[in-house]
Amino acid sequence: MLSYRHAFHAGNFADVLKHVVLLEILAYLAQKEKPFCVIDTHAGAGKYALDGDFALKTREFDTGISHLWQRDDLPPSVAYYVELQKRFNTNGHFKTYAGSPLLIKQLLRAKDRLCLFELHSTEIGTLKENMKHDKRIQIEHADGLKNSLALLPPIERRGLVLIDPSYEMKSDYSEVVKSLVQMHKRFATGTYALWYPVIERGRNQALEMAFQKSGIKNIQLFELGINTDNSGRGMNASGMIVINSPWHLAEKMKNILPWLAQILGENGAGNFRVETLVTEK
Ligand SMILES: C[S@@+](CC[C@H](N)C(=O)[O-])C[C@H]1O[C@@H](n2cnc3c(N)ncnc32)[C@H](O)[C@@H]1O
Repeated sequence: MLSYRHAFHAGNFADVLKHVVLLEILAYLAQKEKPFCVIDTHAGAGKYALDGDFALKTREFDTGISHLWQRDDLPPSVAYYVELQKRFNTNGHFKTYAGSPLLIKQLLRAKDRLCLFELHSTEIGTLKENMKHDKRIQIEHADGLKNSLALLPPIERRGLVLIDPSYEMKSDYSEVVKSLVQMHKRFATGTYALWYPVIERGRNQALEMAFQKSGIKNIQLFELGINTDNSGRGMNASGMIVINSPWHLAEKMKNILPWLAQILGENGAGNFRVETLVTEK
């Protein structure tokens, strides 16, 4: 049974990193006229009320978007992310946080496609309401890790698979690698972006090692921490593992992440990583 609800976490520092990276990849795909396809394997509800009970219970948005939305010195990629978020908050108050499905929708052109998977029985209904009817968007109440395989390679032969699990079970860490290996076999030129939390560093080391042994080439890692490991605060850091990342992304992240670590880090404990897990050749 799934118990995770993203509304408790919407707009936190992990969402900031995930959505900045997501938008960079999409902007890169949109540079060419040829259409692309995005698969979001763990879509969530689409958008979240920051003044709702769930969000107010944890106030995790205070670790992320709250620090950013009123600043006028944001690096361009962060400014673009905040600008998109502001489109959902037109009355000057920041009350709605747009999740990956709505952010991706903002960047779709007439011929691009988006396939959304969500397994939670309540979230799927909210997702459908939030996305409204759009012939470019397909929404499935199904396991995104298992069912996205059948959609690969997409007819467009260009695209992104975003994998954003809730890691409710420890086995999720190994399952994502198995799924990515299968997906990559079917669509080797696609871009894949996997979000991960850092709760116990040992699990992340095992995850990174599994990718290094996977046979997949060209893997980058971008991580942002607001606390040091073992701070006793739960999730200290989170990151994105990107396969076939746009060529410019690592350079951009080298500029953005130190800035985010400084602004979002707690008591000067912000930290970041930009690393090549596996080279291109
Ligand atoms: C971290 S949230 C998604 C947040 C969203 N990607 C965003 O950035 O706005 C993870 C979601 O995945 C759903 N989920 C968990 N396992 C799933 C699976 N195997 N397939 C599809 N959805 C799943 C959960 O119900 C939850 O809503």
